[in-house]
Amino acid sequence: MRFFVETFGCQMNVADSLEMGRRLRARGFRTTKQLDRADVVLVNSCTVRDHAEHKALSFLGRLADWKSAAPGRLLIFAGCAAERLKDRLGRRFPQVDLVAGAKSIGDFDRLLAERFPALPFDGQQEWVDAWGWAPGLGETGLPGEGVTAFVTIMRGCNYACTYCVVPSVRGRELYRPAASIFSEVKERAAQGQREILLLGQTVNSYRPQGPNPGPEGREISDFSDLLQMVDAVPGVARIRFMSPHPHYVDERLAQAIHRSARVAPHIHLPVQSGSDAVLARMRRNYTREEFCRKVDVLRHHIPGLAVTTDFIVGFPGETEEDFLATLRLGREADLDGAYTFKYSPRPGTVSAQGADDVPDSVKEERLARLMEETDSRSRTKLAQLVGKTQEVLVEKGASEGSGFVWEGRTAHCRKIYVTSAKTHTTGDLLSVRVERADGKTLYGRVDA
Ligand code: 5AD
Ligand code: SF4
Repeated sequence: MRFFVETFGCQMNVADSLEMGRRLRARGFRTTKQLDRADVVLVNSCTVRDHAEHKALSFLGRLADWKSAAPGRLLIFAGCAAERLKDRLGRRFPQVDLVAGAKSIGDFDRLLAERFPALPFDGQQEWVDAWGWAPGLGETGLPGEGVTAFVTIMRGCNYACTYCVVPSVRGRELYRPAASIFSEVKERAAQGQREILLLGQTVNSYRPQGPNPGPEGREISDFSDLLQMVDAVPGVARIRFMSPHPHYVDERLAQAIHRSARVAPHIHLPVQSGSDAVLARMRRNYTREEFCRKVDVLRHHIPGLAVTTDFIVGFPGETEEDFLATLRLGREADLDGAYTFKYSPRPGTVSAQGADDVPDSVKEERLARLMEETDSRSRTKLAQLVGKTQEVLVEKGASEGSGFVWEGRTAHCRKIYVTSAKTHTTGDLLSVRVERADGKTLYGRVDA
């Protein structure tokens, strides 16, 4: 029996797919990358923008043929769009056998058992810990899993950004016990996953629900404590976290990153807009100046910190003035890169109750201007690295010509191809001299 996974959306979804994949593995399924060989297909969907949801649904639509091509095939629709649409799927997608919305990922195994009582199970219930999680499901090597371990530390979101559908599909914040996080990190490190990516919708709002002892009984009171705890795990080479919310960025976090040996000097800190009026209507809970001050605090404590962000253009009521304030923010905060999105009204959100009044042509034009600005800044930053030495974590290897070419990431999470006369292993940390920057990619050679 084989399963095929298709994941749309963010890294939380990648982590959820891995988790669901482990549950399927525990039931004796093997993974396949070939759809036509699969007995089970798991589609993990996103709904953050209309376009994302559309992609997942059209993939689901195309699976009608797969489903009817052989008897007994099972189609599972999971994730955020599944959560949003769960009661309305039936008529349009009769091929779906099980809906596992984003709120019920922790219950995935029970849902499987209820819906398919005949599925095999090898009885290792003790794998499931207090968080309803299966950190001990051992083996790595699921599709999407490499040198980086995706470790979910919290679920849900207590914010209420007016454009955002996530709180309604993922629910209120739920914090994973530190002991459970710690045991997964230790296990992943022991399996050779050298990079730990701590995940949560607002990952730095992490706090205990009740007593929360970490290793050696030390009480973990917030995200800064947690980072330092993970930093002490032997075998971990690099630690990242996604995505922090600016509101919870403070001196304590900056110092924790500074003190840690392995937390990468890179933060992806979504700002969304550079206009105070828009930020207020988005209910982001900070002003432009406060955001810039937080970035300054981080940079003050963390030498060489790279800061990337997310921007939304065309939020209702966004004027040219508002947009120009966003455009200027990149330079003012010296941002290293950005993901840029066109506002997409999501059903059920506060902002979708009003008019989507920035015409699409204006959104497109602002998106293009903002992308050009952020890309040119990012290219300049990359060009400045030429001739410098970077620490590179090897993600993949391939031989080519006389030498070897390895693919990895710098501490700033930049992709780099590395030529080396020696062979290396996935997970090695190399000292690499950057020789060339091309678009968003770097090329370098291992320092002799
Ligand atoms: N429209 C456009 N972009 C959105 N994002 C979240 N909701 C919307 C929306 N309704 C963007 C934000 C967030 C990223 C994951 O997606 O920039 O940080
Ligand atoms: Fe998409 Fe948000 Fe769900 Fe991630 S949490 S998959 S971005 S809707």
